[in-house]
Amino acid sequence: MKPDIHAMIRVNHAGEYGATRIYAGQLAVLKNRGITPLIQHMADQEKKHFEAFDALMRENRVRPTLLSPLWHIAGFALGAGSALLGKRAAMACTVAVESVIDEHYQDQLDQLEDNTPLKTLIETCHQEELEHRHTSLENDAEKMKGYKPFTTAVKAASKLAIFLSKRI
Ligand SMILES: [Fe+2]
Ligand SMILES: [Fe+2]
Repeated sequence: MKPDIHAMIRVNHAGEYGATRIYAGQLAVLKNRGITPLIQHMADQEKKHFEAFDALMRENRVRPTLLSPLWHIAGFALGAGSALLGKRAAMACTVAVESVIDEHYQDQLDQLEDNTPLKTLIETCHQEELEHRHTSLENDAEKMKGYKPFTTAVKAASKLAIFLSKRI
């Protein structure tokens, strides 16, 4: 089956947007802390991912998901909520989200032909998402109290967001 390029761009655009909102929420709560520059670095990379998908979306005349207003709020709430639980929870949130995104991007990469603009962009984003997960694991994500149920819930929410953004 031919991969649905438009659906791929739509869901990735939504996901990268959601990522910028998660980090915005975390940064709104965790101001001037030791961890802040690290989160800011990830936030800056997410902004670039989003802008790249936004450009690709315009070039290919793909319509954005109708759920953008929801991701605007849900992403921020997830980021702020995790940060309110503490630094480790903020890191655990990133581990959970990036684990889902890792699988999601790998699945797309397996379907796409090499050297297309979409595949090249996904490869770049994918590498950086893996770095985000790695950084978060190195910064005590797993020491969060309730790590397992928390990450299970965040993963489920991320999967639902992907499912919906592909379709709506
Ligand atoms: Fe990203
Ligand atoms: Fe990321």
